[in-house]
Amino acid sequence: MGAAPSEKFGKVSHKVPMLSLGNVFSDSEVRDFLDRIRRFLGLAEDAPLEITAEPKIDGLSLSLRYERGRLVSAATRGDGAEGENVTANVATIACIPNEISAPDFPDVLEVRGEVYMAAKDFQALNERQKAEGSKVFANPRNAAAGSLRQLDAAITASRPLKFFAYAWGEAPALPAETQYDVVQAFAHWGFPVNPLMKVCQSVNDMLAVYASVEENRATLGYDIDGIVYKVNSLELQRRLGFVSRSPRWAVAHKFPAEKAVTVLEGIEIQVGRTGALTPVARLKPVTVGGVVVQNATLHNEDEIERKGVCVGDWVRVQRAGDVIPQILEYLPEKRPEGTEPFVFPEVCPVCGSHAVREVNEKTGKLDAVRRCTGGLTCPAQAVERLKHFVSRNAFDIEGLGEKQIAAFFADGLVRSPAEIFTLERRDKVSLKRIANREGWGKRSADNLFKAIDARRSIGLDRFIYALGIRHVGEATAKDLAKTYSTFEAFQTAMIAASDAGSEAYADLTSTDGVGVVVAGAIIAFFDEQHNRDAIAALLDEVTVEAVEAPDTSGSSVAGKTVVFTGTLTKMTRAEAKAMAERLGAKVAGSVSKKTDYVVAGADAGSKLKKAQELSVAVLSEDEWLALAGGE
Ligand code: IVH
Repeated sequence: MGAAPSEKFGKVSHKVPMLSLGNVFSDSEVRDFLDRIRRFLGLAEDAPLEITAEPKIDGLSLSLRYERGRLVSAATRGDGAEGENVTANVATIACIPNEISAPDFPDVLEVRGEVYMAAKDFQALNERQKAEGSKVFANPRNAAAGSLRQLDAAITASRPLKFFAYAWGEAPALPAETQYDVVQAFAHWGFPVNPLMKVCQSVNDMLAVYASVEENRATLGYDIDGIVYKVNSLELQRRLGFVSRSPRWAVAHKFPAEKAVTVLEGIEIQVGRTGALTPVARLKPVTVGGVVVQNATLHNEDEIERKGVCVGDWVRVQRAGDVIPQILEYLPEKRPEGTEPFVFPEVCPVCGSHAVREVNEKTGKLDAVRRCTGGLTCPAQAVERLKHFVSRNAFDIEGLGEKQIAAFFADGLVRSPAEIFTLERRDKVSLKRIANREGWGKRSADNLFKAIDARRSIGLDRFIYALGIRHVGEATAKDLAKTYSTFEAFQTAMIAASDAGSEAYADLTSTDGVGVVVAGAIIAFFDEQHNRDAIAALLDEVTVEAVEAPDTSGSSVAGKTVVFTGTLTKMTRAEAKAMAERLGAKVAGSVSKKTDYVVAGADAGSKLKKAQELSVAVLSEDEWLALAGGE
């Protein structure tokens, strides 16, 4: 989880994105991870497959760029594509080399790893802070983050930060062929690496590392929250590639969540941006795994009933990493007399509209979620949509966070996304200037307007994500942006797609990550006149950048539509698809006039026949590989 790149620091765009890891929680999910890899690569169940296992450090990730042996830049993860430039601060961290003179150190290398604070250093720092009347940190991770993101590098220098190297970014010449050996080379060049990293030959080896590290967790002297498994062979890593924002070749096996017992003092209903009524538990504050917890989610009304919890009950709560704390159960023996079951409201607590549970079209069952029917007339939905609109992975406007949006909305200053961009014009002629508001001044108001102006041009993926369409998260927004390239093309296609028999609908549902539910949500969104009006007003103020085609220059299959059929021998179907997409080709499931190539393996059947009927070019697997080339 990276912090938003702040304007306080310059930005660094990561040439190789900084990815995140998928999580697994059980032995069987670890087995599934290995099975998936074997299936993708077409490896037999008993073929050797080495996996490294190492602790997952609970700190913040950092990318260190070295040119000719000198540290030239250090950046936080940020949103994975762009982080904060913290070079001056990192230069003060004792265990990170500023210069490396080893003759075998490459010309260019980005070393990545985790900055963290050791447990005893954290305690000492907090005691010092308390004595000085300064801020006390909730946990070592927050202390490390706060220490690294200091404007004054002298403060960072006074904080005992440490580092483990475990990955890399741009690295034109790697020193070895395996994950393990590259990390050993890092150690040889003077980077601290984790001593508990092991190479495993089997799932049993992996689970043994997990068990033994977990047992010793409390004695390590730094916080870890699981074990990371990675395919050891870099060649296999390359073949496996990525899904969305995580590598297929690595996964985090998290330790079980920490638990505590406290009192459920109340249940509050929050209304989200899509109108969902979510019950939130207000708890008597309790420390769980080093963090004070006072809220927990109860998901929906069925969940409250299933758990049987009542206000006043003692409850067991758990917290797993960054996940919102959860209520597991109540303790019946401690239930006070006279507790009454919670009655879930049937009207929206914010706007008073009916709140209903829709019948799911596919399953015919009642939706678990009760929704306010007020739409944008419900202030809660409107304000939540605005908060989403300015959030980190959407418009990300510096100085315009949830708090400011809520205040501007309450005072009628900003009621729609477009109004964010007309704020300055209206402010100039207003009697109640923003600069005169409580907590604001001339400078902060000017900075806000500058930050808003800086976002008048925005990438298509962020723009689509910012619209807050149900089921359209960041990954889907990226996929849609890639498919449609411009907002105009996207909107036109989405309006056309409301006819389920149209080509536009077929195109939409063949986009990665878009099934019937997601497609339905997007179409419903564009169906509503008020959404189209809000977009039109917004487009008067902002420019949506077209998506640049990925750099597939040199690829002879970029832009081509390919269909694979029959049994391939050199790679699995999944691998062939991933490779084609990496080279800029589109992989379709059925043959049509639009198909450029059909790659036919052994025993190809009806698709091959169809290709011949339509005179689509048919290639053998080898011909395809020769054409795709390079890889
Ligand atoms: S590997 C492409 N190894 O976990 C894979 N990550 O959710 C890159 N982390 O942002 C990550 N310890 O901050 C890797 N031994 C370890 C790690 C580790 C902690 C963090 C890292 C990353 C997050 C992934």
